[in-house]
Amino acid sequence: MSETVLLVGGGGREHAIARALAPDCDLYACASNRNPGIAELAEGFETISETAADDIVAYAESVGATLAIVGPESGLAAGVSDALDAAGIYTFGPQEAEARIETDKAFQRQFMRENEIPGNPDFATFDDVEAACDYIDEYDGDLAVKPAGLTGGKGVKVIGDQVDKEGAKAYLRDSDYERVVLEERLVGEEFTIQAFVANSEFRVSPAVQDHKRAYEGDEGPNTGGMGSYTDVTQSLPFMTDGDYEAAVEVIDAVVDAMPDYKGILYGQFMLTSEGPKVIEFNARFGDPEAMNTLPVLETPFIDVLVAAREGESLPELEFAEKATVCKYAVPEGYPTDPKAGAKITVDVDEGSDALLFYASVDAREDGLYTTTSRSFAVVGHAESIAQAEQIAESALVDAGDGFHIRHDIGTEALVQRRIDHMNEIRGE
Ligand code: AMP
Ligand code: GLY
Repeated sequence: MSETVLLVGGGGREHAIARALAPDCDLYACASNRNPGIAELAEGFETISETAADDIVAYAESVGATLAIVGPESGLAAGVSDALDAAGIYTFGPQEAEARIETDKAFQRQFMRENEIPGNPDFATFDDVEAACDYIDEYDGDLAVKPAGLTGGKGVKVIGDQVDKEGAKAYLRDSDYERVVLEERLVGEEFTIQAFVANSEFRVSPAVQDHKRAYEGDEGPNTGGMGSYTDVTQSLPFMTDGDYEAAVEVIDAVVDAMPDYKGILYGQFMLTSEGPKVIEFNARFGDPEAMNTLPVLETPFIDVLVAAREGESLPELEFAEKATVCKYAVPEGYPTDPKAGAKITVDVDEGSDALLFYASVDAREDGLYTTTSRSFAVVGHAESIAQAEQIAESALVDAGDGFHIRHDIGTEALVQRRIDHMNEIRGE
């Protein structure tokens, strides 16, 4: 029997999920924005907010969904998985309680402490701004200042990097966060591992490195992610296999401590001189990281979802031995002062080594235009990171005007900088 899957969400990440699922099921989707890439792959696409749990359940029931997958954290935080599960539609995505590993950073650090999960930095939680400011004054060293709730990756300020102590205190006093976490600043190179989790079991995928800063050379404000790359192996050029294994042990400990967790568990790590430390967990695929990982997944993704629902052992995952480079095209001025309304003229041939994923676009009668969020991404895959980078760049040549792209992502020069940085940190 063919499965009928409802996909919730309309970004680049969900376009990648849709592309991975569509050949093997009857796919339906809903999101607050109409993603033309998903709409083309799905048999039905409804405009429904990702947080409108009741409306999502009604749509899932109307199409006879046998499975669901929730892409964005906003839906998980709103209890969309709980509602779909309660309606008898197994949802690959944690319920609200488990999703707190992402949605509540204070919970996340406390959970790590209580369960002795390795890789937890020194931290303290504050409900009172002035107490947090005192802690900043007294702390011997740099801190990362994090609002406990969701901020789309844009709420963190790192002392010694983006701000000084005075700037961090001013930031806290100017914002109205109810709760903040202050934690030891971790120094090193970041990487992500996305694990597929269900029935107290997990399967991992290759490590990815995202680029959060808006501008080339890792300058400028933090964004949701400007682009990312993977290597032909599970590890990245600045990591050892031992570093990868150490991160997998962290994921293992989380899955052990959260037996009801289901969905993607995204571990974001800082590779420090002492090995991988946890920056955060997300309760979903990364965006852009899903666009690196899912296109090289050779095991049908639907098989993972069905095994999860049936309480069976998850299939071993096979990945093509290909490097991938993903680059987002974002509106000029993003993220501080994004200019919407630029025409998107990119066109990638099906069957080429480049893939095109739509994110937030405005479909008008004469074509697609940018909104104020990330517009679309191009992913190259090849035998090396450098080749994949070239493929992504070739596909971006016709992107049109009015976009900003980090052309440095995946270049040999930037990858070499990561390697040199890590060698320096390790004292080699
Ligand atoms: P998050 O929203 O937790 O992903 O944080 C956004 C970015 O802030 C991360 O990608 C890191 O670059 C940085 N960051 C977060 N926590 C720390 C930390 N403890 N030390 C250094 N940088 C951090
Ligand atoms: N790329 C980071 C995230 O999805 O949170």
